[in-house]
Amino acid sequence: MSLDLSPPALTATEEARRQIEICNACRYCEGFCSVFPAMTRTKTFADGDLTQLANLCHNCRGCYYACQYTDPHEFALNIPAALAEVRAESWERLARPQSLARLFQTHGVAMAALLVAMLAGFFWALSALRPETGEGFYAHLAHGTMVAIFTPAFLLPLALIALSLRAYWREIGGGAVRPSHLLRAFDQVARMKNLSGGHGEGCNFENGDRYSDRRRVFHQLTMHGFLLCFASTASGTVMHYVLGWQAPYPLISLPKVLGVPGGVMMVAGTVGLARLKLRADPALGAARVWGGEMAFVLLLGAVALTGLALYAATGTGAVGPLLAVHLATVMVLFLLIPFSKMVHGFFRLAALVAEAGRPAPNSGGE
Ligand code: HEM
Ligand code: SF4
Ligand code: SF4
Repeated sequence: MSLDLSPPALTATEEARRQIEICNACRYCEGFCSVFPAMTRTKTFADGDLTQLANLCHNCRGCYYACQYTDPHEFALNIPAALAEVRAESWERLARPQSLARLFQTHGVAMAALLVAMLAGFFWALSALRPETGEGFYAHLAHGTMVAIFTPAFLLPLALIALSLRAYWREIGGGAVRPSHLLRAFDQVARMKNLSGGHGEGCNFENGDRYSDRRRVFHQLTMHGFLLCFASTASGTVMHYVLGWQAPYPLISLPKVLGVPGGVMMVAGTVGLARLKLRADPALGAARVWGGEMAFVLLLGAVALTGLALYAATGTGAVGPLLAVHLATVMVLFLLIPFSKMVHGFFRLAALVAEAGRPAPNSGGE
């Protein structure tokens, strides 16, 4: 029997530490994104520092294509992949409850598909008990039933995410949050500044030789489309409970004016993101979670597409089955927020808020 004398493989955090220490000596990529200035605050990187840097990294890949120390150089740097691994690992480790998180890590895509199918069947069966009264969707599912099902399905994931974010804040040593930190972080999210490649030409996410703003544009279409759809639902709730106006609402009403463009933006954005993802090199991200990430993009697209189809089918016999499928996709999206890629928005926002609250980076280390 021969002895294996090769050094033990590094963990994701150890590998990221090895690479970041080289970058911190080189500093060529300082203007690319928030990660490089942030790393100059210290010379030694605790696990929490690496978790924070990983969540600041937007995976634009600019630093990989600019780097002279990538494979076949002996340093074999791949910062986007090293940080993506630490990031994915941090979301899995900090998710609450851990037992459910582990189950989703190993069987996430299958469980999401199964849940959509089961819930669509459930909503379809519920519509058999349709109320005597009610117009539009409510002729298929009573308003009270929808509220009773969706309120806990929305609030419970938010409570679990709050626990995860508390654990994140402790791990990275986040300080007191001031309104100015929130404003700076929201400004960066609104412009998705860190996906710009740092020089205004865009990033090289799907092609090392070409700069493009496509990923940023598709992301913003998806994100703002989602927020518009959310605002549409919220406005419908206010109109129902506060103003006493019953659905279905006319075309010129807040729920429709916000929801229809929001749905179209989400479909365009998710189709664009999925296409870019198919073209991009999986080795510059966390390859092991590629399938789960793609499932999340497709689930978001399915929520929007079924919502628009439902609107288009108003007054036809297709409303019943379409409503069941739409409600199932929305519910699975909500339920999976703490365990899916969907949680990235919360962690990334937290990372930007923490960064906004830290002293200006220096160029000489600690
Ligand atoms: C706090 C706000 C948010 C920030 C800072 C943020 C940031 C990012 C970044 C940096 C990426 C690319 C890197 C990666 O794949 O992790 C990304 C991907 C993505 N984000 Fe966001 N995001 C936010 C909110 C949202 C929201 C609200 C949605 C929609 C519901 C959304 C949908 C997506 C999608 C679909 C992808 C593509 C995933 C992929 O290609 O694998 N994001 N986000
Ligand atoms: S990625 Fe490469 S070029 Fe950029 S700072 Fe790190 S070592 Fe230097
Ligand atoms: S991949 Fe982009 S965002 Fe991430 S560290 Fe490199 S340059 Fe910064």
